[in-house]
Amino acid sequence: MNILAPSILAADFKNLGKQLSEIAENGAEWVHIDVMDGKFVPSISFGMPVIRSIRPATDKFFDVHLMIEEPIRYIKEFKESGADLITVHYEACSDVTATLKEIRDSGLKAGLSIKPKTDTEAVREYLPLCDMILLMSVEPGFGGQKFIEGSLERAHALREMITASGLPVDLEIDGGINLDNVGDVLKAGVNIIVAGSAVFKDPAGNTRAFMEILNS
Ligand code: DX5
Ligand code: ZN
Repeated sequence: MNILAPSILAADFKNLGKQLSEIAENGAEWVHIDVMDGKFVPSISFGMPVIRSIRPATDKFFDVHLMIEEPIRYIKEFKESGADLITVHYEACSDVTATLKEIRDSGLKAGLSIKPKTDTEAVREYLPLCDMILLMSVEPGFGGQKFIEGSLERAHALREMITASGLPVDLEIDGGINLDNVGDVLKAGVNIIVAGSAVFKDPAGNTRAFMEILNS
């Protein structure tokens, strides 16, 4: 099953509760939540208090993407704020294994992400500790960037790696996804689609348009 995970980084924060209902009513099963620390990535977004305050607004799955250095320091706090899955960056962890274990030991699903220039082979040894691999298709840090074309080939390689492993690992993509390229991304083997600006320009209408393609 393909899942749409709208990234609230592109939402209208003064209407966040209403926009969360709109995406949920039109078929988005996940909410993608981008946390940035101003160190691993240049920008700063939001953190635990925002997640905690939107948790009662929806029963959808909270997919928390931590773009922060040494995320192992904060796993418990993000769990308590309402995360269902926590994704950390391969490049941001001095001990990837310990970080993924900490996420799973806290009862959450664990994701591992790689930036566009990181070799896809980097994730292979961690697949048994992961529920999801997140392939960045832009340099992390900002919404509204252009999709890096080479990401299709990288997605395909990751899907093959996952299939060969026989493990039940989802493949998510994040950055520059829109209604024109999402079909190619699905064909490359991705099953979880993050989209920020392409959804929140018109949350209800665009969620419906994405879901039509994801379900076809
Ligand atoms: C970028 C974030 C993305 C971002 C995607 O660092 O991880 O989730 O919100 O935004 P769009 O879909 O606009 O590229
Ligand atoms: Zn993200």
